[in-house]
Amino acid sequence: MRTVLVAGGCGFIGTNFVLHLLRTRPELRVVNLDKLTYAGNLENLAEVEGHPNYRFVKGDICDEALVDKLLGEGVDVLVNFAAETHVDRSIKDPAEFIRSNVVGVQTLLVCARKRNVRRFIQIGTDEVYGSLGPSGRFTEDSPLQPNNPYSASKAAGDLLVRAFHKTHGMDAVITRCTNNYGPFQFPEKAIPVFVSNAMQDRPIPVYGDGLHVRDWLYVEDHCRAIESAMERGRAGEVYNIGGGNELPNIELARLILRELKKPESLIQFVTDRPGHDRRYALDSAKIQKELNWRPRVTLAEGIPRTVRWYLEHQEWLGKLRSGDYLEYYRRHYHQTHGLKE
Ligand code: NAD
Ligand code: TYD
Repeated sequence: MRTVLVAGGCGFIGTNFVLHLLRTRPELRVVNLDKLTYAGNLENLAEVEGHPNYRFVKGDICDEALVDKLLGEGVDVLVNFAAETHVDRSIKDPAEFIRSNVVGVQTLLVCARKRNVRRFIQIGTDEVYGSLGPSGRFTEDSPLQPNNPYSASKAAGDLLVRAFHKTHGMDAVITRCTNNYGPFQFPEKAIPVFVSNAMQDRPIPVYGDGLHVRDWLYVEDHCRAIESAMERGRAGEVYNIGGGNELPNIELARLILRELKKPESLIQFVTDRPGHDRRYALDSAKIQKELNWRPRVTLAEGIPRTVRWYLEHQEWLGKLRSGDYLEYYRRHYHQTHGLKE
């Protein structure tokens, strides 16, 4: 049985990926290493806690002794989602971004090499390419031109992965995806902020003129793309993963309001983010051609599905917004596993 170590499995995409593997790949064992920062929520994975092929380990990817021990137990593939991910936070306080997104990646790479992990998958972002004008799309060969501390730290992580492949021949693949949306996204990112505010008739904060464009991909489609890179991606390659669903933020806000039958008067233009990238868009021809991956969920299907999920998970949303989810970890996990805090 192959073992996949998922780092950062209690965050938004990591949660969806762990659930995806456990639902569809009974031949795989999944170990989830997560530090449970503010963005990590153990309760997301409550339904698989007792699953025979699943194990959770609380820990930091910068903790070399712990990572070494875990990888020494036998890991075939390491998929690294663990990162600080919110651009606005990186502008206020970049230190944690450098620690987790750069030093963390380096620690994983050093240990993976020492413990002969067969394949290393680094989950990257399109934001490393910087900002586009009104036309064109980034390819895997576009220069890295990050514009904020988050994207700069992610670019540094990607470059370390590349260097370990070139220097040590490590079997490593980097994926770079556009903006994801779907279940379990933390309510500080645009879509869950828009949905949860609108649900409560609170203003929807749209940065600047609202004409910044993002390309949206439903998280399940991203999980399938990562799985294809994990199984069939070529060592040393980068794969862009785009949704083909470009939308200015103001249109996204309107779409969500229509879905919730709320008035457009809830939209409030607020001060822009400094260095706000104008447009992201990816050319995903490479992954489509080489790995036969295609997105399946259109925005027309994905947005209603996501809005419905948040409507049905208002308790989850409320807990995250109040910070109560940390209580779940303290009570439930420590009790279940007989651990001391
Ligand atoms: P998230 O913020 O929801 O979750 C991050 C997870 O990593 C959390 O569970 C957190 O506890 C964990 N973590 C953070 N630092 C850690 C550390 N030092 N050690 C162990 N665990 C740690 O993030 P997400 O949106 O799920 O993104 C996951 C990955 O995908 C990130 O690497 C991000 O850069 C990338 N990505 C995200 C998007 C997107 O739209 N969300 C798009 C492209 C790429
Ligand atoms: P976000 O979800 O933070 O992702 P990223 O910055 O990584 O693309 O933001 C998506 C877009 O929405 C981005 O252009 C910033 C904008 N935005 C708002 O207009 N209002 C908000 O409250 C947030 C969180 C983001």
